[in-house]
Amino acid sequence: MPETESSTRVIPATGLMPRHVAIIMDGNGRWAQKRLLPRVAGHRRGAEVVRRVLVACRERGIRHLTLFAFSSENWRRPPAEVSLLMKLFRGMLEGEVARMHEAGIRFRVIGDLSRFDEGMVQLIHNAEQLTAANTVLTLSIAANYGGRWDILQAVRRLAQERPDRIATLDETDLAPYLALADAPEPDLFIRTGGEQRVSNFLLWQLAYTEYFFTDVLWPEFDARTLDLAIASYQQRERRFGRTSEQLRAGEATRRDAAGQ
Ligand code: IPE
Ligand code: IPE
Ligand code: MG
Repeated sequence: MPETESSTRVIPATGLMPRHVAIIMDGNGRWAQKRLLPRVAGHRRGAEVVRRVLVACRERGIRHLTLFAFSSENWRRPPAEVSLLMKLFRGMLEGEVARMHEAGIRFRVIGDLSRFDEGMVQLIHNAEQLTAANTVLTLSIAANYGGRWDILQAVRRLAQERPDRIATLDETDLAPYLALADAPEPDLFIRTGGEQRVSNFLLWQLAYTEYFFTDVLWPEFDARTLDLAIASYQQRERRFGRTSEQLRAGEATRRDAAGQ
């Protein structure tokens, strides 16, 4: 099956390693507050955890990792916190990308870049260009990202480029314009920090993703918790609307091959 085929059509077998893991890295502020530290200390620690998780995913053969770093709603936070988060993001672009490149990681940013300053946009483009041909793992950082924005920007671009398609628009028309179009849809979604909500993350792409919520705060997230999430994922039977009996009979694959 081509990697980009919609995972809502072709069902991955139970027990496999997820190809694509998407994470809402939540709980930095509470981690810091519990230690009587300023919230920004939690963000600093959280940024370090990203490196650790990237290594763990690579070691496990996960091909795509998508991390929610800053939502389109996070601009509502106090200006000092927003500017520290931007500083950390810039630090990652300046300091980490070369290391990722050496490790064969393809780096990219998904989100509305129009609110970032020119220097930042340049850094993002440079990082994406430098690592574009890498194949070990694709790390997508969602920054100023919102799931609703993603769908709207896809519709807008499609309307501009293919006005003839608008009246009969279907999923396959829209899919190439959405963020992460070149990746399989996430198999496993993890949210740390105890909240059980999607907070405007990948609304379209998470349609049939398996969810895993943990109370572990992001700064404490490690390979052990990742493995718990993966183990939980590997026990689940994904059905995409079909019955267990159909799956056991191998019918899903046959029907998908027939385009049904
Ligand atoms: C997640 O941690 C990081 C961002 C949203 C940028 P939070 O800052 O939301 O941490 P809590 O939820 O307040 O603990
Ligand atoms: C979601 O976290 C966004 C990121 C982790 C970047 P929030 O902590 O901002 O989510 P809500 O607003 O509490 O749902
Ligand atoms: Mg939060």
